Amino acid sequence: MTFPWSLECSACGQTRDADGLPGVCERCGQPYLVRYATWPSPQVKGVLRERRRSMWRYREWLPLLPPEEPVSLGEGGTPLLRVDRLAAMHGFARLWVKEEGMNPTGSFKARGLSAAVTRAAAAGATRFVVPTAGNAGIALAAYAARAGVRARVYAPQTTPATILAQIRSFGAELLLLDGHIGDCGKAARQFAAESGAVDVSTLREPFRIEGKKTLGLELAEQLAWTLPDAIVYPTGGGTGLIGMWKAFHELAAAGWVRGGGPRFYAVQSSGCAPVVQAFVAGADRCTTWPDPRTVAAGLRVPGPFGDRLMLRALRESGGGAVAVPDEALSAAARELQTVEGIDAAPEGGAAWAGALELKRTGAIRPEERVVVFNTGAGWLYRA
Ligand SMILES: Cc1ncc(COP(=O)(O)O)c(C=O)c1O
Repeated sequence: MTFPWSLECSACGQTRDADGLPGVCERCGQPYLVRYATWPSPQVKGVLRERRRSMWRYREWLPLLPPEEPVSLGEGGTPLLRVDRLAAMHGFARLWVKEEGMNPTGSFKARGLSAAVTRAAAAGATRFVVPTAGNAGIALAAYAARAGVRARVYAPQTTPATILAQIRSFGAELLLLDGHIGDCGKAARQFAAESGAVDVSTLREPFRIEGKKTLGLELAEQLAWTLPDAIVYPTGGGTGLIGMWKAFHELAAAGWVRGGGPRFYAVQSSGCAPVVQAFVAGADRCTTWPDPRTVAAGLRVPGPFGDRLMLRALRESGGGAVAVPDEALSAAARELQTVEGIDAAPEGGAAWAGALELKRTGAIRPEERVVVFNTGAGWLYRA
């Protein structure tokens, strides 16, 4: 089979065909990214009007061959909410929240897992494994059920109880570990090696990023094919950030948007902030955070595998990284809930707290167009 896309290593540039079940670069062990032979022409924008609101409306941008149907639960098509009351309270002129808690399975993780399970199932996979801070586990469990295949999920014991209940409810086999997502990652790799299960860990296969890319495609369409000045994003493993960065490069190369891309700002909890630390130090890799602690489970990623790519996206875009304490991110989530009715996850609260901090320090100016990401639903974190 000839694919209209190939894979390119993000570190050493090695290329390969996209057949089978690709993992990381065979030469240097770093993540592969998908490279397409051609871009859809800007005329395709017109066709989009007739398509339903799901991330697969952007199928010309995604790794899907014409006769294939995606493994889908209607992911994507989430609201971009103008938050004027919050903006007025805090001195922003044009502020939006991208409400990713509205996805099936309650978080933006649905996008990546829909794409990854689609490709792996098309290649014949029947068994999957993922390490998770929580939400990726729910998403894999649901998309595996949708595809009629088996899933195993490794999660930290400290994962919120409702998230664990959701993982179980979709029929996945759930194993709890006394550790963080890095420990779960080791267990998942070992299980994959022993059982032949496909490991869909962040950036250890190339297709989750393609699903996350639709965050950027959708945002551009919702802003009438323009891009904001700044994106404030709660960052753990970095898939959302890297996916949007890739999307904006591809949209510009295809002539779908004009001008420069937005500045990306990564927000982390001060209890686990390896990306902020590396950004401030001018490093191109993260140093593993020794004792990661935060209520924002998705941000408890002490040694992200995609560190190099994230730091590149932050620097190339002229953005930055900021850490906020757990008290501030919890208060900010509450503010999104009570002032705007947005059921923010603690991670979404982190993004809002980060935006406030960036405005306070002048990194974001009051007149700029700012998009803050609420990546998940708050109810998943309540007992
Ligand atoms: C709700 C939520 N927000 C943000 C993140 C961080 O994700 P990323 O890998 O895109 O940095 C996660 C990851 O688990 C999450 O569940």
